[in-house]
Amino acid sequence: MKKIRFGVLSTARIGVRKVIPAMQNGEHTEVVAIASRSANKAREVAHYLGIPRWHGSYEALLADPHVDAVYNPLPNDQHVHWSIRALEAGKHVLCEKPIGLSAAQGGDLVAAARRHPRLKVMEALMYRHHPQWRKAKELVETGQIGELRAIQVFFSFYNDDPGNIRNSSSKGGGALMDIGCYASSLSRWLFNSEPRRVFGLVVNDPHFGVDRLVSAILDFGVGHATFTCSMQIAHFQRAHLAGVEGHVELSEGPFNPPNDHPCVVRLRRGSEVQRLELEVCDQYRIQGDRFAEAILRDAPVPIPLEDAVGNMEVLDAIVASGRNGGWVRPGAAHPGSARERRTNRQSSRNDFPLYTHVRHCDYTYSTRKELENGSTNTTSY
Ligand SMILES: NC(=O)c1ccc[n+]([C@@H]2O[C@H](COP(=O)([O-])OP(=O)(O)OC[C@H]3O[C@@H](n4cnc5c(N)ncnc54)[C@H](OP(=O)(O)O)[C@@H]3O)[C@@H](O)[C@H]2O)c1
Repeated sequence: MKKIRFGVLSTARIGVRKVIPAMQNGEHTEVVAIASRSANKAREVAHYLGIPRWHGSYEALLADPHVDAVYNPLPNDQHVHWSIRALEAGKHVLCEKPIGLSAAQGGDLVAAARRHPRLKVMEALMYRHHPQWRKAKELVETGQIGELRAIQVFFSFYNDDPGNIRNSSSKGGGALMDIGCYASSLSRWLFNSEPRRVFGLVVNDPHFGVDRLVSAILDFGVGHATFTCSMQIAHFQRAHLAGVEGHVELSEGPFNPPNDHPCVVRLRRGSEVQRLELEVCDQYRIQGDRFAEAILRDAPVPIPLEDAVGNMEVLDAIVASGRNGGWVRPGAAHPGSARERRTNRQSSRNDFPLYTHVRHCDYTYSTRKELENGSTNTTSY
């Protein structure tokens, strides 16, 4: 199968360190061009990464006939603007998360995408392509933990660099936009619905004016998702899914898993713990390939753009709740709003076939005494 030729808008760290090298190794992707506001920077990075073409402006990259698709890792406030410009230039778009600064902005991109039905647009929510999450989703959907009742996510890192885009409110910074978006996205995906109401507690940094600590409750009716995210707590990530009959845990890098050793999903049912070891992989490479396959086959993208707008509705509602101190119902009337999204859900589910290969599986059993004491020590079987 032919490869899709990607051009990259900017020399953003995430592109240079993760996404470009992954797509250079992709089965259906190659990176043929990069652009920067500085021609020197574009040339330097192009030489460093072995990218054949470079441009001293984003406009020049969009005009490059060798580029089929654009990867957009610009600061959050520029996601929608440059993604629309890319569509207008006839390019498919893989745009970094979150899709924009608000659901209304995301709706503008949905409207633009509908004006260009031949072109594909997808939010780069890399974690959803990783086998560890596909396995976790499979465990939930096949009833391995009974009805899903609670999801808990913790995600933090420490960054007080005033020059970082995450500490600029005009660039769409803040912990909620940067990492809280994963927790809300994950919860909506696993509950397979939209929260009926959300509650948010938001603490802003007094100097930067962006949120540095956010905790939220998402009420899905049948269950709750709770999360805390912070840009001023030492680095840590954890995700835990709790069902009537068991638990699923992804403790090692649920969102930034290693790409050089296997990830492990733990399924706990009573005293039995199944340790499911997945194949070593690079989630950014899988993301690129799945997006490229959708282009090559003219098939729906694995994550519909409406899903990105739905996530923004939840983030908007958490911000509103943080301001007014009460519960807020997510959703507004614009292209890609909750009502329309519901009709797209089935196709989104179908795109995640429910079987993910496990490389190795072993079991441990807790003794009754340990279970009664709540001890985490297990006896190898
Ligand atoms: N999916 C993931 O795993 C993941 C991880 C990290 C970040 N991200 C997302 O990727 C995006 C970029 O994050 P990053 O940490 O890589 O950012 P970054 O290193 O700060 O890069 C942003 C780039 O945008 C360009 N830019 C254009 N206008 C700018 C402005 N006014 N100020 C600063 N930069 C400007 C710059 O490139 P030029 O100077 O070359 O034009 C800059 O290198 C964000 O949307 C973030 O949410 C995703």
